[in-house]
Amino acid sequence: MERTFIMIKPDGVQRNLAGEVIKRFETKGFTLVGMKFMAVPRELAEKHYDVHKERPFFSSLVDFITSSPVVAMVWEGEGVVSGARTLIGATNPLTAAPGTIRGDFGISIGRNLIHGSDAIETAKTEIALWFGEDELVSWQPAASSWLY
Ligand code: PPS
Repeated sequence: MERTFIMIKPDGVQRNLAGEVIKRFETKGFTLVGMKFMAVPRELAEKHYDVHKERPFFSSLVDFITSSPVVAMVWEGEGVVSGARTLIGATNPLTAAPGTIRGDFGISIGRNLIHGSDAIETAKTEIALWFGEDELVSWQPAASSWLY
């Protein structure tokens, strides 16, 4: 089953939007298979954003991601990589569609609340960078014998 890496960035945590973000992924129908609340070591942030290291905002982006805790997650489901990007919305919150996470809650490109892997291969790389295999839980919805 397809998986993607999602990170609620420091601004999402500071603005108490973690629950709202998780709710949107749950109600869409995706399955949470890994989650941790963590301070991000600088080396990890630099590796995560390595593809952008020549861009002018690279060091400020790394400064920001390491400035305050994040929620790192892995979500699973059919088409979850592109589906998550649709839920998240465009990079610039000012042009992100209403109804998307960035469109509903953000105004600044440097503080756009959430990261989602941009392709299936990127998702595999990012999941391996942020999570050990033993931190991911494959599970199925329970039989209704104990769910009420
Ligand atoms: S994307 O999502 O990769 O297609 O977007 P891209 O425009 O290539 O941006 C790559 C990541 O850099 C962030 N970004 C910025 N951060 C700070 N300041 C500025 N000006 C800026 N422009 C882009 C953008 O949010 C992407 O980070 P993630 O965490 O993947 O969203």
